Amino acid sequence: MTFRTRYTGLIANYRDRLPVSENTRLISLGEGNTPLIKLENIPDLLNKKVDLYVKYEGLNPTGSFKDRGMTMAVTKAVEDGAKAIICASTGNTSASAAAYAARAGITAFVLIPDGKIAQGKLAQAMMEGAVILQIKGNFDDGMRLVKEVAEHAPVTIVNSINPYRLQGQKTAAFEIVEELGRAPDFHCLPVGNAGNITAHWIGYSEYACSVGDKVTESCAYCDGDCKFAKEAIVNSRPKMVGYQADGSAPFMRGEMVDNPETVATAIRIGHPQSWDYAWKVKEESGGWFDECSDEEILAAQKLLAEKEGIFCEPASATSLAGAMRDINSGKITEGSCVVCTLTGHGLKDPDTAIKQSTGPVIKVDAELEQVKAAILDNLS
Ligand code: F0G
Repeated sequence: MTFRTRYTGLIANYRDRLPVSENTRLISLGEGNTPLIKLENIPDLLNKKVDLYVKYEGLNPTGSFKDRGMTMAVTKAVEDGAKAIICASTGNTSASAAAYAARAGITAFVLIPDGKIAQGKLAQAMMEGAVILQIKGNFDDGMRLVKEVAEHAPVTIVNSINPYRLQGQKTAAFEIVEELGRAPDFHCLPVGNAGNITAHWIGYSEYACSVGDKVTESCAYCDGDCKFAKEAIVNSRPKMVGYQADGSAPFMRGEMVDNPETVATAIRIGHPQSWDYAWKVKEESGGWFDECSDEEILAAQKLLAEKEGIFCEPASATSLAGAMRDINSGKITEGSCVVCTLTGHGLKDPDTAIKQSTGPVIKVDAELEQVKAAILDNLS
C-alpha cells in the first residue's frame, strides 16, 4: 500500500500562496482540510433540486474557522519577534488566539464581552492560558480598546484587521474549489466583522485569476495586484451571500448598529471592521446581504442536527437559515451548487443547545422492563 502523507496544516499545504519563506517557523495545529459535506435530507425537505454543501469549519483544531487565520497571524507575529498577541473577541477568536499563542510559547491577551460569550469558548481560552480581560461592554468596545492599546504596548493584534488572518482564511475557498472541481454558484456565510466573507472572496478570486493575461479578476482586497495569483484554475467565482442576525445587522441597516443583540453571540457585532471590503465583495460577486431572526437561526441549527447529524453553533446556522429561505423563494435558483460555511462547532455553546432541545430525555429505573417500555414507546 502507499501511505498517505501526514497533513500538517494549511500553511504547509498552500505555502506558495501564502506570505511565508523557507525559513519561517510554522505555528500550526493541523488546521484546515475540513470536510465539505453534501446535505442529503434537507434539500428533500425543501423539495428543491439544489446541490447543497456545508463546509464544516467547526472541525478545525479549536472548533472554528478562526484557526485558519490564526495559524498565519501567529506564525508571522513570531517571525517578527512578537512576545504577545491581543484580540477582542466574541469567543472563537480568543479560543484560537490562546491555543496558537500556547503553541508558540508567547502570551495571548483576550478582551471578551462580560457574560456574552458561550461557555465552551471561555473554557478554551482559560485552559490555554490566555490572560482574559472581561470588559463591561460589547465586542465593538473591545475592538476599539485593542486598537488603542496596541499603540501603547508591545502586542500584535490578531483580529481580522491583521492582514495575515485573511490570507490564512482564504484557503477555505481553495479547498472547496479543489473538492468540487469548480467554484460553487453561491457561497453563503454568517457575517459579523465581515473578515471571513472577504477572505473567501480573496481565495475564490485568486483561483480564478491569471496574472499575466487579462483574465485577471480584481478582488475587493488586491484591486488587481494579487501577489499570489498564478494560472487560473477555474473560470468563475460564486455569488457571495452574507447573512446577519436581525438584531445585529449593520449591512442591512446600511450603517453601524450601536447595541447589537442576538442569541448567536459569535456575530453580536454592530461595527464590522471589514465594512468596505464586504460591500465590494457583494458588488463584485453579484451577491447580497440578508438577515435572519434568532428563531430562524435556532431552527436551522436544530434542523441540521436532527436531519443531517451535523452540530454547529448558532451563528454558523445563520448561513443555512438564510440559504434555505432563499432556496425556497427561488432567489437561489434550482440546479445551483451552493456552499454554506458552518463557522463553529455546536459544542462551543452547549447552553443554547440544551435550552432549545425538546428531544425526549426519559428517566427510568435501571431495570429491563422500564427500558424496554421506553424503547417500544419511542420507535418511529
Ligand atoms: N461565525 C462564528 C462562529 C464566529 O465566531 C464569527 C466571528 C463569525 C461567524 C463571523 O465571522 O467576523 O469574519 O464575519 N467571530 C469573531 C470572534 C468576531 O471574536 O470570535 P466574521
